[in-house]
Amino acid sequence: MGDAPVMAIGKITRGRVVLDDTAPQVLVPYRDNADLIAHVARLGFLDGTVLDATYGLGTFWKDFKPDTLVTNDLYKPADHAWDFLDLPSRDGEFDAVVYDPDYKLNGTPALAEMDARYGVGEDMVNRQMRLDKMTVGAIECYRVARNFLLVKCMDMVEGGKIRWQTDLVTRAIEDVGGEKVARFMLHYVPIPQPPSWKATPLDATVKPKTFRSGNAEHAAREWVVEQGGGTVEQNRQITAASNYSSLLIFKRREFVRVRGKVAVGGILWPENDPEAAA
Ligand SMILES: C[S@@+](CC[C@H](N)C(=O)[O-])C[C@H]1O[C@@H](n2cnc3c(N)ncnc32)[C@H](O)[C@@H]1O
Repeated sequence: MGDAPVMAIGKITRGRVVLDDTAPQVLVPYRDNADLIAHVARLGFLDGTVLDATYGLGTFWKDFKPDTLVTNDLYKPADHAWDFLDLPSRDGEFDAVVYDPDYKLNGTPALAEMDARYGVGEDMVNRQMRLDKMTVGAIECYRVARNFLLVKCMDMVEGGKIRWQTDLVTRAIEDVGGEKVARFMLHYVPIPQPPSWKATPLDATVKPKTFRSGNAEHAAREWVVEQGGGTVEQNRQITAASNYSSLLIFKRREFVRVRGKVAVGGILWPENDPEAAA
């Protein structure tokens, strides 16, 4: 039998478990993104010149600031307002690139404020487009990274299914030659999905409808009566609630350009845009 795996051993400091900084992947209750980033920096992933391609409110840098931090955001104040799908930087220009894209997959009026904060705008209306934007942006950020690309994303339940963003991003970066070298998880208390109700009219020519907001059950029953009768049942959440987001770290190896590959939702990776190539 081989040696037992060595676990990272931590000490308790003021009620928090602080694990050995030399461990590449540890389960540790990070306070927030800033705490996680500071931990990752101590491991050496954020040495040198760092591009934050999605600076937002700059919350990642409350505890740690790289020697040189270049900030970018298309919609919020930052050093640059570059589109992360088409950065003007040359290949490998930054030692490390941090990319925290809009990983929410849906937007409802009640969440308008969150949507504004995370930049999920009118232009990104469907799930596939949002996922494509995330992966195409990751590839472009990888292109301009010399040593490491750090991607924040989340395997989230949306539309009754778990959407494995970590797998999508990993495949995209591996496709262009990168190697995933670490994954850190930030745990949080999940917000339960509000119950939804499915109304199915007796009239088979009318499509069933799902009611979510307000008194959804009441609205569903009223609608079914208007349709001449039918059934109303509560939808059950059959997927596990996700309670973590992930920070994936990719080591830059090579950058394989894939010509002619067009993202499914209609977003063209700039490299493949026939107009840009012309
Ligand atoms: C999840 S937020 C980043 C939050 C940030 N890490 C913070 O600490 O506040 C994603 C950010 O990406 C920006 N964004 C969305 N699409 C973009 C694009 N195509 N190019 C550059 N920035 C974009 C949004 O404005 C938003 O601030």
